[in-house]
Amino acid sequence: MPLLEGRHHLVVPCSPGIAPFLSREIRELGLPVIAEQATSITSRGNFDEALKLNLHLRCGQRVLWRLSAFKAENADQLYEKLMPLPWDELVPVDGYFSVTSVVDNPTIRDNRFANLRVKDAIVDRLRRLTGRRPDSGPRRDRLVFYLFWKKDEARIYLDTSGPTLARRDYRLDPGKAPLRETLAAALVMASGWSGKGSFINPMCGSGTLAIEAALLALNTPPGLLRQEYSFQFLKGYRSLRWRELKAAARRRRRPDRRLRIIASDIDPKMIAVARENAARAGVDEVIEFLLCDFASTPVPETPGVILCNPEYGSRLGAEEELKKTYRRLGDFFKQKAAGYEAFVFSGNPALMREVGLKPEKKLKFDNGGIPCELASYPLYAGRPAGA
Ligand SMILES: C[S@@+](CC[C@H](N)C(=O)[O-])C[C@H]1O[C@@H](n2cnc3c(N)ncnc32)[C@H](O)[C@@H]1O
Repeated sequence: MPLLEGRHHLVVPCSPGIAPFLSREIRELGLPVIAEQATSITSRGNFDEALKLNLHLRCGQRVLWRLSAFKAENADQLYEKLMPLPWDELVPVDGYFSVTSVVDNPTIRDNRFANLRVKDAIVDRLRRLTGRRPDSGPRRDRLVFYLFWKKDEARIYLDTSGPTLARRDYRLDPGKAPLRETLAAALVMASGWSGKGSFINPMCGSGTLAIEAALLALNTPPGLLRQEYSFQFLKGYRSLRWRELKAAARRRRRPDRRLRIIASDIDPKMIAVARENAARAGVDEVIEFLLCDFASTPVPETPGVILCNPEYGSRLGAEEELKKTYRRLGDFFKQKAAGYEAFVFSGNPALMREVGLKPEKKLKFDNGGIPCELASYPLYAGRPAGA
């Protein structure tokens, strides 16, 4: 069967802590979840559905389309199994591709050797058929193939996304210590905010949380913003289906007047950056940006969610200052936010204790290699918070 026809395994990697939210997204898009691992979800679908995942997923890293699964004990066997695949269906002879991999095979010391054998198989197949060969190298901005090889079990995928789906193309200036867009989206989902009522994001930095919240509330898939995907470099790629999927998604966008998103930061540069990012994401009209200390952020009467990501830096001397910030954050929640559910995302448990409220829940995530937690504080109206 041609490599892009029929139903194939679709694997979507994610960073630790995100899998439950990614799994929900995949099911809500009408696709099955056939395996949930700590850092990936496996589904199954046709190629149109792979495109749909690229367009809609908020917290997945990439969409891998399984081309083949086979046994290979060493690199020669890997080559022998890969060579006969009809690569000419996927790779234009004048195209460019790269190979990435995760390898845990006793005969391979350096992944680059396995990647090279995958590349050889593809190039040799095309050269044999056409007398010409495509280019290949480390750049991941064209076609990307991904090898997963553990012991003698090998799987080869087309990475339909290419650069990570965290790259939405709305954030040109990331500011300082920005959250990855996929993580920000997962945190908004974890807050349980339904897209109605208020979403308050003090200490917004480059605005990632507020922007992801706005995209979610407006039912705008993040893929609408991004220009390029690996699948667009497939041989014979026709953009019609992708344009149809995007048009259908645009029709389903829902402006909601009951929505109120407020983002604030004390640094004027960050507010300017956040505004620009929101404008590029097409959501600047639904976010109110304010330059102020977090404690002066207005909290509308209609309750909702307060989600913030204060600094948790390890700079010497900064810790005492940050302790005060976390303490004041707790006071802000208690004094101004009754009826809301507040969330603090941080990588410093000692600082989090300074908030002075008992978290109802703590969820673990990973932020660029730093273990972090999202702590939730329900601030019940009518009785002292944290009591
Ligand atoms: C870790 S960054 C937030 C990053 C953000 N989540 C993003 O994705 O870009 C923390 C932000 O808190 C802001 N900040 C620090 N102290 C503040 C205060 N007292 N009031 C308001 N904002 C403050 C900083 O200017 C910085 O932009």
